[in-house]
Amino acid sequence: MIIKSMSGVIAASILALASVTATAQVAAVPSDTVERVVHICNVCHGLGGKDGMEGTPNLAGQPAAYFAQQLRYFRTQKRADANATGDMWSISVLLDEPMVEGLADYYEAQTPVPGKAGNAALMEQGKRIYHQGIPASNVMACSACHGENGEGGTVFPRLAGQHAEYTVAQLKEFLTKLRPHGSVMSEREAKHLTKDEMRAVAAYLQAK
Ligand code: HEC
Ligand code: HEC
Repeated sequence: MIIKSMSGVIAASILALASVTATAQVAAVPSDTVERVVHICNVCHGLGGKDGMEGTPNLAGQPAAYFAQQLRYFRTQKRADANATGDMWSISVLLDEPMVEGLADYYEAQTPVPGKAGNAALMEQGKRIYHQGIPASNVMACSACHGENGEGGTVFPRLAGQHAEYTVAQLKEFLTKLRPHGSVMSEREAKHLTKDEMRAVAAYLQAK
């Protein structure tokens, strides 16, 4: 509930910033203006997007193209799970395209921090799934798209260092119509993963 009331304050702050910069609207937003908006993102996503609060993804090191696309999905209400509608819908409508791109470049340049290691056996199982997939159930190796180290690139999100519970939640979202996923991508993989396998791969990625 604190978060919900925070959203109102945050919306007001972004609007105030927007009115300051409206007259100076040019192709690219100056980096100090981007950094002032980042103070607002920090409230939930942690300083520099490095340690988001529970349910909130880390953003540091996220490839700019993927990042910007997600803000557009929120803004057009295409990404529509309960967590998104609560916070990111109201925030994203206040961000115009130059600001979206400024924020995407800012976060791509932040150095991500690995999260906590979990159960060793679970992480080992996750490591196998991530790098080899599960041929018997038609699950491709995640590394084929998300990179050898989970670093992502262009439209493929970084998964390394992400909160495990957020990763599991998104894999489940891909099974619904609440989150777009380009063409096939992770939807097919998610369909063939059991809940335990999702938890395993998420635990492996969190500590990377
Ligand atoms: C009140 C809390 C809150 C604030 C403030 C906030 N966010 Fe978010 N953000 C969230 C939550 C929660 C999610 C996860 C939504 C979901 O699960 O679909 C999210 C998701 C995202 C994502 C998707 C990341 C991914 O890996 O797909 C991006 C990008 C993002 N936020 C950017 C921003 C930016 C930029 C700002 C500042 C302008 C911001 N957020 C401010 C709560 C917040
Ligand atoms: C064929 C390429 C491909 C493969 C293989 C793949 N993914 Fe993805 N994945 C994507 C793309 C593209 C997206 C971004 C979709 C979007 O734009 O919203 C994505 C998104 C995700 C997300 C959401 C990240 C976030 O920050 O919200 C998670 C979690 C994920 N994939 C996990 C996995 C796991 C685990 C595997 C292996 C079992 C896997 N993916 C295999 C292409 C792939």
